[in-house]
Amino acid sequence: SQSPLVDPFGRLISYVRVSVTDRCDMRCVYCMSEDMNFLPKRDILTFEELDRLCSAFVARGVRRLRITGGEPLVRRGVMGLFRSLSRHLDSGALEELTLTTNGSQLAGHAADLAAAGVRRLNLSLDTLDPAKFKSITRWGDLAQVLRGADAAQDAGIALKINMVALAGVNDDEIPRMLEWAHRRGADLTLIEVMPLGKIEAERAHQFLPLNVVERRLSELYTLQPIDHRTGGPARYVRVAETGGRLGFITPHTHNFCEGCNRVRVTCTGTLYMCLGQEDAADLRAPLRASPSDELLNETIAAAIARKPKGHDFVINRRGAKPAVTRHMSVTGG
Ligand code: GTP
Ligand code: 5AD
Ligand code: SF4
Repeated sequence: SQSPLVDPFGRLISYVRVSVTDRCDMRCVYCMSEDMNFLPKRDILTFEELDRLCSAFVARGVRRLRITGGEPLVRRGVMGLFRSLSRHLDSGALEELTLTTNGSQLAGHAADLAAAGVRRLNLSLDTLDPAKFKSITRWGDLAQVLRGADAAQDAGIALKINMVALAGVNDDEIPRMLEWAHRRGADLTLIEVMPLGKIEAERAHQFLPLNVVERRLSELYTLQPIDHRTGGPARYVRVAETGGRLGFITPHTHNFCEGCNRVRVTCTGTLYMCLGQEDAADLRAPLRASPSDELLNETIAAAIARKPKGHDFVINRRGAKPAVTRHMSVTGG
């Protein structure tokens, strides 16, 4: 087998996030602008190409694959990709096959995802208030997402709820979200908003520092540090009163880049070595140039060799240009 992927800072790349579409059936105000330009179909990798790409990473020692979007479940036929990739779970090469979803299409897909070996998924949900949900997601339907959450749990899939903490929008709802998630046996992870792509709102106004939130929560609950690792950037505590886990993803107030183990690939086969940097490598050309993976492997190795140390996000300066011009929906986070 081939040598593992190690970057210039000695970090082992064991986690790949693959976006299967840049499209989404919602328009979250912190993620997208109202009028987004989406990619033409011919630029998008086919499922065969996506499978080849993922498998090339698995052959280089990647142990976790996360399918993202846009919204991954809006791409027709995506379940075939899950089914096909599950062979790497069966062989033991892959430890985890999972996805991040907005839940809109989850009710119809949960059983099939479980059958394909998905044991855990991350569901984006920023509020439990229907009107607020509408104002954050613009196009979303809360009831449909909640049906999706139920279906996933009924299918035996563990849930992590992702809540982007937005100042003055959903900060008052954090205790309620926490109790709701924990009552149903789900983890809750709070996320600091990141400046990716142009949106209508001012990011500096959306930003809610999670060190402040944690301090406030610790007046209401007993937060016990725990050593829970998912392979992702969250730091977790146990909430003694609910028994559940609460995670913090803090690119701004507590940098986690030192432990980075991941890269991401867009639906056009562009490899980004860091969420918060523009440098990228094209994997579609080598994929399409030859049925052999030789050039693809060389391109991946060369890209990993220039993975940057970390992101350059600046969020708390009003009018700051986004460090990265692409939207989160291009790389799925
Ligand atoms: P697990 O820990 O495996 O459950 O996944 P995760 O929390 O890393 O993934 P998820 O797709 O749920 O992403 C949650 C949030 O973390 C999103 O806002 C992502 O953009 C963010 N995130 C994930 N990986 C990184 C990273 O490497 N750098 C930064 N800055 N943010 C990340
Ligand atoms: N900053 C932080 N998180 C974001 N997400 C989307 N856009 C942003 C942003 N600009 C979140 C979604 C989802 C996850 C993949 O990323 O809510 O939970
Ligand atoms: Fe769609 Fe997720 Fe972006 Fe919301 S955050 S618009 S659900 S991709």
